[in-house]
Amino acid sequence: MAKQQSDVAEQPGILKRLFIKTYGCQMNVYDSERMADVLEPLGYRETEGPEDADLVVLNTCHIREKAAEKMYSELGRLTALKQARIGDQKMLIAVAGCVAQAEGREIMNRAPGVDIVIGPQSYHRLGEIVSRAARYGSSKAGEVDTDFPAESKFDHFPETKRQSPVSAFLTIQEGCDKFCTFCVVPYTRGAEFSRPVGHIVAEAERLVAHGAREITLLGQNVNAYHGAASGGAFARLSDLMYTLSQIDGLIRIRYTTSHPRDMSDDLIGAHGEIDALMPFVHLPVQSGSDSVLSAMNRRHDVANYLDVVSRLRRVRPDLAISGDFIVGFPGERDQDFEETLGLVGEVGFAQAFSFKFSPRPGTPAAEAADQVPEAVKEERLGRLQELLKLQQRSFNGGCVGRALPVLFEKEGRFEGQVVGRSPYLQPVHVAADQSLVGSLVDVEIEAAMANSLSGRLVRSAALAADTAA
Ligand code: SAH
Ligand code: SF4
Ligand code: F3S
Repeated sequence: MAKQQSDVAEQPGILKRLFIKTYGCQMNVYDSERMADVLEPLGYRETEGPEDADLVVLNTCHIREKAAEKMYSELGRLTALKQARIGDQKMLIAVAGCVAQAEGREIMNRAPGVDIVIGPQSYHRLGEIVSRAARYGSSKAGEVDTDFPAESKFDHFPETKRQSPVSAFLTIQEGCDKFCTFCVVPYTRGAEFSRPVGHIVAEAERLVAHGAREITLLGQNVNAYHGAASGGAFARLSDLMYTLSQIDGLIRIRYTTSHPRDMSDDLIGAHGEIDALMPFVHLPVQSGSDSVLSAMNRRHDVANYLDVVSRLRRVRPDLAISGDFIVGFPGERDQDFEETLGLVGEVGFAQAFSFKFSPRPGTPAAEAADQVPEAVKEERLGRLQELLKLQQRSFNGGCVGRALPVLFEKEGRFEGQVVGRSPYLQPVHVAADQSLVGSLVDVEIEAAMANSLSGRLVRSAALAADTAA
């Protein structure tokens, strides 16, 4: 820290431009903001693109092969930009995120334009590393930090000064101890770690003071949360949410991503008790076949999953489910895939993400002998997505004619339009005044599209808005 301050003192008043490109999950979105906060005291301000940037950070994702490949093609473009620079304006290129953690210095061998490689647990050290790289320029071999430091980055991030979006992310848990046989996360993010309740509450209060009305609590395995609370006790996710729901001005709480194994009774119960907690749960299941689930080391079977879904619906009949699926996991037979379609039929998903199995280096499933041919994966993915799309359309269609509370987040693409989210995360477009951004208003849904809804303010809200204007 002292080092970072001395670097700041060495470069008083020099403003530099920072461009961060974020791939992957919401935790990367959160981390990118924290990296910008860490670099702010060094004079870095964010810019819209890499063309005029002094420092470009790629915050990368390693979850599927495609995600990692995207990064290498972006690095090719950036290196060309860097080489085309003339005069004094140099460009530093940093690779952060899960590819950085997984591949380390290897990235510099494949992409020699890269100056810095930094893993997700070291972001609090980014200031020091960037200062060093800026000083030594390309004469040095480059900076690589892929440690899992003993200290937590969260304890060293500076307080953010930025305005918060209406809907903000807050990471409360990181890492994963589940070791599903297809997944890189336990290797790229390390062991499960929960932030203490006090820190989270303070950060949530700051977000609300800076404009947030909704907070999504993030973790790779967020419902395994068990954070230190006062008096040596530990808080579960449900305990944390009861506490957060007391914050004035925080009207919506969400959490993602949860694991079916960790959907405990208290968490399910919270859905019936906390008004601010949205009736929409992202609950990945991956497959509808017990033998595939077992080979995936998911630690739950189909019956467990269906039981969680029905218990959630019992406490909140209006609750909707979204899911993640993998098709073509090694050993998946036609019959296993049919069982996945069966599970989808039984649950009725409001929304879902589905992927072809991608063998990831270092994971057990990548080594399995019975890999499924690409053409079979392709065909199964097509069929699954067809069904999921139908379900999403039917869920969206079922909203027409209902009045849904919408939290308005921003101006729409067309003039006189504002966009918000329903409780089920559907974008909702409404013709209304942009002064409604930040407000929760009932909207009568008039039309449903594949991925969004549109409607009009219900009369009382329209009147309230008119009076306020
Ligand atoms: N922690 C979450 C998932 C995080 S990764 C959970 O336990 O469900 C997000 C999604 O990416 C996963 O749910 C899975 O559907 C998909 N995924 C992860 N590894 C993958 C791989 N090797 N191939 C294809 N999809 C994968
Ligand atoms: Fe990956 Fe999720 Fe399994 Fe953890 S629980 S290993 S993050 S899929
Ligand atoms: Fe990707 Fe890492 Fe998130 S692999 S999905 S960025 S945890």
